[in-house]
Amino acid sequence: MPNLDPALAPIFPRTAEATPGGHLTLGGCDAVELAREFGTPLYVFDEEELRATCRTYVEAFTSRYERSAVAYAAKAYLGRWLAALVAEEGLALDVVSGGELAVARSAGFPMDRVHFHGNNKSAGELREAVAAGVGRIAIDNFHELALLDDIAGALGRRQLVLLRVSPNVDAHTHAKTTTGILDTKFGLSIEGGQAEEALVQALARANLEVLGLHCHLGSPIFGTEPFQQANEVVVAFAHRMRDRHRFELREYSPGGGFAAHYLREQPPPSPDDYAAAIVDSLRAALQREGLDEPSLTVEPGRALVARAGVALYTVGARKEIPGVRTYVSVDGGMADNIRPAMYDSRYEALVANRAAERPAERVTIAGRYCESGDVLIRDIELPKLWSGDVLAVPASGAYSLPMASNYNLTPRPAIVLVREGQARLVRRRETYDDLMRQDGWGEG
Ligand SMILES: Cc1ncc(COP(=O)(O)O)c(C=O)c1O
Repeated sequence: MPNLDPALAPIFPRTAEATPGGHLTLGGCDAVELAREFGTPLYVFDEEELRATCRTYVEAFTSRYERSAVAYAAKAYLGRWLAALVAEEGLALDVVSGGELAVARSAGFPMDRVHFHGNNKSAGELREAVAAGVGRIAIDNFHELALLDDIAGALGRRQLVLLRVSPNVDAHTHAKTTTGILDTKFGLSIEGGQAEEALVQALARANLEVLGLHCHLGSPIFGTEPFQQANEVVVAFAHRMRDRHRFELREYSPGGGFAAHYLREQPPPSPDDYAAAIVDSLRAALQREGLDEPSLTVEPGRALVARAGVALYTVGARKEIPGVRTYVSVDGGMADNIRPAMYDSRYEALVANRAAERPAERVTIAGRYCESGDVLIRDIELPKLWSGDVLAVPASGAYSLPMASNYNLTPRPAIVLVREGQARLVRRRETYDDLMRQDGWGEG
């Protein structure tokens, strides 16, 4: 990343550079030109970064544990173009709704590589998934267990399933994103006996074939220890279930939640760090319990797409409150990225049209929406910002767009995919007509 602050290099896509004129480039495309051509807010995805990260994750796991697979957790962001790219890279796909499943199908994603998760899948969604031939359904609760058995029976299928268990491991994430503890809506508690009861029931169901166990601890997990703890708890449980119910653990997934690099001072573990910790602790636990090696699936979402996505905004108003704070407003905010408002998430930023310039002031980047809480970045050191500057926010590829809304009736942003100097519009900006399309008023 010549001419750019080296501390930002691992947060922007690996293709990011600065032109001699001081413009940020992504995938060989000038970010300022992209903003001009496609408008802002604009989400730019870097194809080279995406593919390289997919390959790094696959290699990190398969080189250590042959029977392993990486499933991209589509909730982090899914479009048909991305489903097709992930399929090409040989990954599996974790979906959590009929909508994500429909997008995957429409992109031609191989259904046997799709895993369906969620704590309250509807009967309709389960029917769609079974009929489509999805590879695995992760059963989250007793209600779903009975429902899925009935649906599979009615469709004349024997559905391959995993049981989602909750191992009571605290992943030390934000309270709103922890999922592996006892007090969570997700999964069947091992400690509370629900996991065993559900396993007994599932093994007895004619239309379900229980392949193994799944858990997911939360996200983003900046340490590797929670995965090690979960492996021990789940493998010990599998051992007890083998002895009591002749259950064979053929597949296992410790979920996703691998962290992305959002802040310069907070680098996440590398894919190799995660893979080594997960594989070594899994093998150790299996040996201790005398169990055969199951196949292993990990489900990274944000770790695969966060770095590839850069959000571009145009700077507008400026409000200086002497001795208190300077607010600089941009043309996006909580409707395209709710994470700061919802999870207190923090981001870095760079002025795309003056990419090599050093910071000169401390400002707070506010969004354009009618909420005081609509602040994208509180207290960040940046060069002096002027109206018309293009602000680039890196690590924006995950959990921004899929949670985007039309708050204040603003159209949602466009998305472009960049590669080797070419920019392809993969989602056009919404229009006012889009906003009114479902509105039946005046149709008689
Ligand atoms: C079951 C499951 N797998 C994987 C993920 C992906 O998490 P992340 O994007 O942090 O990797 C989630 C996130 O909520 C999840 O619920």
